[in-house]
Amino acid sequence: MRIIGKYPDIRLRRVRNSDWVRRLVSENNLSANDLILPIFVTEGKNKIQKIKSMEGVYRYSVDKLDQIVNQAVKFKIPMIAIFPHTDNKKKDSKGTEALNENNLVCKSIIKIKNKFKNIGVMCDVALDPYTSHGHDGIIKKKQILNDETIEILEKQSVLQAQMGCDVIAPSDMMDGRVGRIRKILDKNNFQNVKILSYAVKYASNFYGPFRDAVGSRTNLKTNKKSYQMDYRNSNEIFREVALDIKEGADFVMVKPGLPYLDIISKIKDSFKIPVFSYQVSGEYSLIKTGIKNKLINDEAILESLISLKRSGSSAIVTYFALDVLKKIKNFS
Ligand code: PBG
Repeated sequence: MRIIGKYPDIRLRRVRNSDWVRRLVSENNLSANDLILPIFVTEGKNKIQKIKSMEGVYRYSVDKLDQIVNQAVKFKIPMIAIFPHTDNKKKDSKGTEALNENNLVCKSIIKIKNKFKNIGVMCDVALDPYTSHGHDGIIKKKQILNDETIEILEKQSVLQAQMGCDVIAPSDMMDGRVGRIRKILDKNNFQNVKILSYAVKYASNFYGPFRDAVGSRTNLKTNKKSYQMDYRNSNEIFREVALDIKEGADFVMVKPGLPYLDIISKIKDSFKIPVFSYQVSGEYSLIKTGIKNKLINDEAILESLISLKRSGSSAIVTYFALDVLKKIKNFS
């Protein structure tokens, strides 16, 4: 780009020197429309449990879900994402509980869809909340089996759609699952159920607190590098995304968020489809702890989310969704 003119004719600070002009020239803004709120659900009744590694985030028993969903609706958040904390005794090597029509996710979808008409519900499709080993697929001879896992994921997707789930979000990283899920949803008359593919999901070290929240951390003895992406790479994102779009994904997700802004912007530039990003649990807890210890200002929340938008995210899954909307008027 050619730079026209020079100082003192040009003074870039002129458009920064008061709040009103900064607002006029701002290129990116954040509103409720950009946010997806993750919600953890747990067994039992009358429970709102703290999660030690995620201060300010709770697990709700199904009967208490209203409380948090009400807030999401009040703040006009378009969609929530449900994640189950499954009892260890219900876990097995094949994640059988994923297909139980009375499991936590199914009960939550029914409850929410009955009471709230104008909020989208998204559910992960993957086996890790249900497996005794904490992996997203089934294992044989220490390998995560791709095609055998997809067969379970197909059933899990149809079950969630039957319960009323609006957006099926495969987060398992098996090859070819988006196409198979699209086909089986259509076959069961769920043409309008959307697929948000976690197309670009890295084997990240930032997922720790989430694994505490869903109770898979202690089960998981090995890493997920044989199916989630290598953080040293970006070339393969083009094939991951192109394949998923071809297979029928309506939107794609990049995960984690902040360490992967380059990835989000590359995808946005190359494919004109909605790209979502996931500000994951580790990112949340780092920022939260920094604020609590007065190392950073709480406006860091807004800065991190706007950065994700600036890089090209259409929407962001974030544990800060409610927090930021409550605080946004104080930031300028
Ligand atoms: C599981 C899943 C994970 C997250 C969302 N879905 C963890 C993992 O892959 O181990 C992480 C979200 C977060 O850290 O906030 N399929």
